[in-house]
Amino acid sequence: MSKSVLITGASRGIGLETAKKFLFPDNDYSTIVLFARKSDDFVSAVQWLEEHNAHGKSIVVREVDVGEREALRTAIVSVYQEVGNVDLLVNNAGYTNPVPLQQVDFEDFERTIAVNLYAPFTLVQELLHLGNKFDCIVNIASTAGINGRSGWLTYSASKAAVINMSSVMREELEIYGTRVICISPGRTATALRRVLAPEEDPSTIMQPGHVAEVIEMLSSPVGRFVDSENLVIRQ
Ligand SMILES: NC(=O)c1ccc[n+]([C@@H]2O[C@H](COP(=O)([O-])OP(=O)(O)OC[C@H]3O[C@@H](n4cnc5c(N)ncnc54)[C@H](OP(=O)(O)O)[C@@H]3O)[C@@H](O)[C@H]2O)c1
Repeated sequence: MSKSVLITGASRGIGLETAKKFLFPDNDYSTIVLFARKSDDFVSAVQWLEEHNAHGKSIVVREVDVGEREALRTAIVSVYQEVGNVDLLVNNAGYTNPVPLQQVDFEDFERTIAVNLYAPFTLVQELLHLGNKFDCIVNIASTAGINGRSGWLTYSASKAAVINMSSVMREELEIYGTRVICISPGRTATALRRVLAPEEDPSTIMQPGHVAEVIEMLSSPVGRFVDSENLVIRQ
């Protein structure tokens, strides 16, 4: 059976590693849809994936800022027209700008919520409106959404909301046979982590490929036996 996976934030980090997990095996996923903003990173990532596409899968790319609601909606419609049903959605794109409370710029707070919370909501709602039937939705929250951290107000608040939104989605979409998974990774060696903890040695913490491996397992049939309402992944 031919299935499609859509991954946001696919230009690097956890998103790119997740794309590799679905590209490499000769499995049911014959279409890999990748969202990220236009950047050299994204061009290089797509080129690398195309060069390692041993099973001739269809790689569909949209350069889109998921924090821009209308642009995101346009991209969703065009993807649905091109590939049809999205069986697995991995809501991975994330943004943070950690500053103390007094320095939070409201527009930046709005942007954090737009990218981290409204974008996954919009992807799910728009696709449902188009008639999409998901097998599985994976929302990437964070341990910062479970316990707020000093200096991370906007990010922690956005991820707490992702955890709660996921629980509601999980209940509401169960009748359609959709599994909604929420994972909360801890420290993972990516560009986003460098923004949050610039002094840290990335070789001492979890790597993005580890998180991608967990996403692959959870979204596979055996994943239904794991309690993934808000699964914490950390070393
Ligand atoms: N690293 C950690 O320690 C950690 C821990 C817990 C949770 N997480 C979560 O894991 C997810 C992936 O992050 P990562 O750690 O892999 O960081 P990363 O390497 O910096 O990747 C972030 C991805 O999100 C994309 N993105 C950011 N803003 C975007 C926007 N407005 N529109 C479209 N794409 C956007 C980036 O693409 P472009 O910038 O190229 O558009 C990039 O592909 C995030 O949701 C993050 O919050 C990370």
